[in-house]
Amino acid sequence: MEQYKNVFIFDHPLIKHKISILRDKNTSMKEFRELIEEITTIMTYESMSDVELVPVQVETPLEVTTQYRVAEDSIAIVPILRAGLGMVNGVHRVFPTAKVGHIGMYRDEETLEPHEYYCKLPEGIENKTVFLIDPMLATGGSACDALNALKKRGCKKIKLMSIIAAPQGIKAVAEAHPDVPVYVSTLDRGLNEQGYILPGLGDAGDRLYGTK
Ligand code: PRP
Ligand code: URA
Repeated sequence: MEQYKNVFIFDHPLIKHKISILRDKNTSMKEFRELIEEITTIMTYESMSDVELVPVQVETPLEVTTQYRVAEDSIAIVPILRAGLGMVNGVHRVFPTAKVGHIGMYRDEETLEPHEYYCKLPEGIENKTVFLIDPMLATGGSACDALNALKKRGCKKIKLMSIIAAPQGIKAVAEAHPDVPVYVSTLDRGLNEQGYILPGLGDAGDRLYGTK
């Protein structure tokens, strides 16, 4: 696959281990949900190395020192409904105070075109670093539309985090939104005719919520 300078594919042994269990069709809904959260937490650490810090004065038992903290209220999480919801707690483990917006998208099963059906974002989101999260980046249609929706509402600094991606999804996002860093845990082989990622893990929403 073509190399894109803003696409980061993690090659972390712990993530590989967890994804192998996630893919297994015999993994229970409970374990699937827990794994999505755990992988998201690891990815959040990895994708935060450039987070903006502000100096603060801290008094230790011995002296006053200048230390650095993530600026208060500078991060927002936006899951793409539904499957992105499964990743929210994983980011919250690292940033418990991050506000959460929601974008509802579904793919038309015939055309694979995404449709936005809901959007509610925290006030002031245009000044925050926004983590757009969705476990699956397949054709990239949902992510591209969600990025357009966020940009239309003034967001300037957005990071996309997906657990499993197909080359088609990476290409679509990297070409339409070259300013957005894309973090994925693993790059899969491709898509089947129904737009499912291969080998993938099936339908992430159904596996998270037991709807099939
Ligand atoms: C899944 C997934 C992504 C989208 C990826 O959602 O969670 O949002 O498909 O596919 P794309 O890259 O081809 O757009 P789905 O539309 O199945 O909705 P759901 O989360 O409500 O099940
Ligand atoms: N959405 C999913 O949930 N899984 C896929 O493989 C592709 C899109």
